[in-house]
Amino acid sequence: MTADKKRVIVIGSGLAGSRVAQFLQNDCEVTLLTKGKLLDANSALAQGGIASAIGGGDSVDLHFQDSLLAGAHHNDKHNLRLLVTEGKRAAEELIQEGMEFDRRADGALDFGLEGAHSIPRILHAGGDFTGRKVLEFVQSKFKNVKVIEDAFVTQLLVRSAANSSEIYGVRFLDAQNREMVQIADVVVLATGGLGKMYKFNTNNFTISADGLALAKRAGAQLRDMEFVQFHPTLLKNEGRTLISEALRGVGAKLVNSDDEYFMKNRGKYGDLSTRDVVSREIINQINSGKDVFLDTSNCTNFAEKFPFIAEKLREAGVNTELIPITPAAHFFMGGVYVDEFGRTSVQNLYAVGEVASTGAHGANRLASNSLLECLVFSKKVAEDVLNLQLTTQHTQIEAVQATRPEIVYVPDLKEFQERSWSSIGIMRSSAKLRDFLRWLSKFDTQKIALDKCTNEQENLVLIAREIAAASLKRTSSLGAHYIEEDT
Ligand code: SIN
Repeated sequence: MTADKKRVIVIGSGLAGSRVAQFLQNDCEVTLLTKGKLLDANSALAQGGIASAIGGGDSVDLHFQDSLLAGAHHNDKHNLRLLVTEGKRAAEELIQEGMEFDRRADGALDFGLEGAHSIPRILHAGGDFTGRKVLEFVQSKFKNVKVIEDAFVTQLLVRSAANSSEIYGVRFLDAQNREMVQIADVVVLATGGLGKMYKFNTNNFTISADGLALAKRAGAQLRDMEFVQFHPTLLKNEGRTLISEALRGVGAKLVNSDDEYFMKNRGKYGDLSTRDVVSREIINQINSGKDVFLDTSNCTNFAEKFPFIAEKLREAGVNTELIPITPAAHFFMGGVYVDEFGRTSVQNLYAVGEVASTGAHGANRLASNSLLECLVFSKKVAEDVLNLQLTTQHTQIEAVQATRPEIVYVPDLKEFQERSWSSIGIMRSSAKLRDFLRWLSKFDTQKIALDKCTNEQENLVLIAREIAAASLKRTSSLGAHYIEEDT
């Protein structure tokens, strides 16, 4: 091997991918491929913030316990411990780098409260612009990152190695829809989750299970595929705007069209119960013919604290005191199986952020632990990449020789999203899951289409099949996976 810099391709420009690129830019040759523009990522939409036990009266143990409870004790305890412990350091590091979080009049950090946190510990910036501010901050540090926007990755190039397979590059469509091949020593998947699978979702429009499908086709192991998190409050009708849980943290309450505050007496946390519990209760209300609203009449300084939401409500012509809501697909706890360093089962292929499954979130992620995950595990990945001993020098020739994918048949997106919503959504049943799998079997998802749109849907179909199959296997409800005829 030469002493040249390692060639690293990062796929995805959310907080996880951007932070890996930032960390590696001086020691490696980093190319960041993103499907849309740099800010087209779920991270940029994150409102609540970053959960971190850095405030007085808080502790990593308490944060650990809250995360465990939300995750229905399905969490990988080692990686969860890492998340909350390193998470404290990661938040402090970001502040030291110059990131400005909101502060109170006395200059102290202003911690927000969200579902199932036993203490306010959510760092936020610009009110509800947190994700965008943090992402812009990290991307402003790019000096040596080659960014390619509008790049849709169609294939991970993998060859057999000694004991497993090894990644050596990617194939992608560029902004002009030309097929490109790029060789790499290391590929980092940071493509986010799968929001587009569902008719109601809170995700950026580019988020369509691409990284999960790429990894699956490359032979990487996936896990916990049944665990999809549904956020309780998406603005209804308009269908795109998340109404942050932080609003319930400052006193907003769920109410139905019969004026019943149906979460009021529900357990220790009431309206701030874990997302799985609240989303199911809202669906029960909707199924019994009632509409559901978020009553924010007792939230003071609404527009100041939540400028993004206030603006969206104004655009939609919705009264800020009574916001019509629906639950919506939000986050994927499953994903590409990784260890604490983000290593997948394919050599030199890493995954980080929502596309990865470290197991830290268990069966249901605690609010605002996702940006935290991006910060913590991007660092672990970067450190591991720097320490990696490469054994092979891949050349362009191998890539050109790789087999070309074929075009295949996929379902209509709207029909697919409707069916996903009712079959692998908030309430599941074995009959609905079997039906869905039968319907999906009509589509050939093993091959990869070259057309941009078709390809996105193929990825969705391939991963929907994994979710349905995993859901069928788990016959008891756990966290976000709820099965009506629980055994
Ligand atoms: C929210 O602000 O409600 C979403 C935050 C998160 O998903 O953790």
